[in-house]
Amino acid sequence: MHIFINGKKLIATKGETVLSVAKRNRVDIPTLCHHDALEPVGACRLCTVEITHEDWNGWKGLVTSCLYPVVDGLVVATDSPAVVRLRQTILDLLVARCPESAVIRDLAEKHGPVTEYKRHTDGSKCIMCYLCTRACAAVGCHAISAVNRGTLKEIAPPFHQDAIACVGCGTCAAICPTGHIQMTDKPRTREIWGRTFDFIQCEDCGAPVITAAYRDFAVQHQKLDESYYTTCTACKKKRTAQRFSTVGA
Ligand code: FES
Repeated sequence: MHIFINGKKLIATKGETVLSVAKRNRVDIPTLCHHDALEPVGACRLCTVEITHEDWNGWKGLVTSCLYPVVDGLVVATDSPAVVRLRQTILDLLVARCPESAVIRDLAEKHGPVTEYKRHTDGSKCIMCYLCTRACAAVGCHAISAVNRGTLKEIAPPFHQDAIACVGCGTCAAICPTGHIQMTDKPRTREIWGRTFDFIQCEDCGAPVITAAYRDFAVQHQKLDESYYTTCTACKKKRTAQRFSTVGA
């Protein structure tokens, strides 16, 4: 099937979303809560686009492109006046919520003049995109989740205690788009969600590989061999290269 994005006819496949077709064709749609490896949830609304169709009698509307499935002949505008206005409002509200986030401010400035609403200044950079909780669930830990309601809603371990289910993999901190999640790596330990984890050191170079807790978790749940984690990625590559050069000699 075909869809039209900003007047360009593009190939699309049944089951795809508008965002995935746009990304494949390098059409820029800003996103904050989307990650290709995770199911979309439409939390940030930043990927909103305007859609219509020749069979819809002139009806057009705003939808989140990360959730909207393509239909043949769909006409999409990523920069119509309605989209630009809505995107600016969403970003203004995010700046008001997270004024300390350089990522949010840069994005807001890129998409138009920033309206300075009254700020919510508790220092948090969390935009409730749920990337961290979804990634944590995908890893299989479920160590953090959304707690409280309304303006008090936040991401935390159960009962705000140290995260007992956390294995220190660091996926939540790596995927957080605003740098809200605090993780401190030292040569031998990692601190996150109120806990300190020991690193396994690479047996070749001594660099940290992963936390011992994550290794144990992976061995148990992902059926990986413990020996896989004895060396870091760089040393694994070096060993492979050496093996190939010995074979070729
Ligand atoms: S990326 Fe679509 S709603 Fe956030």
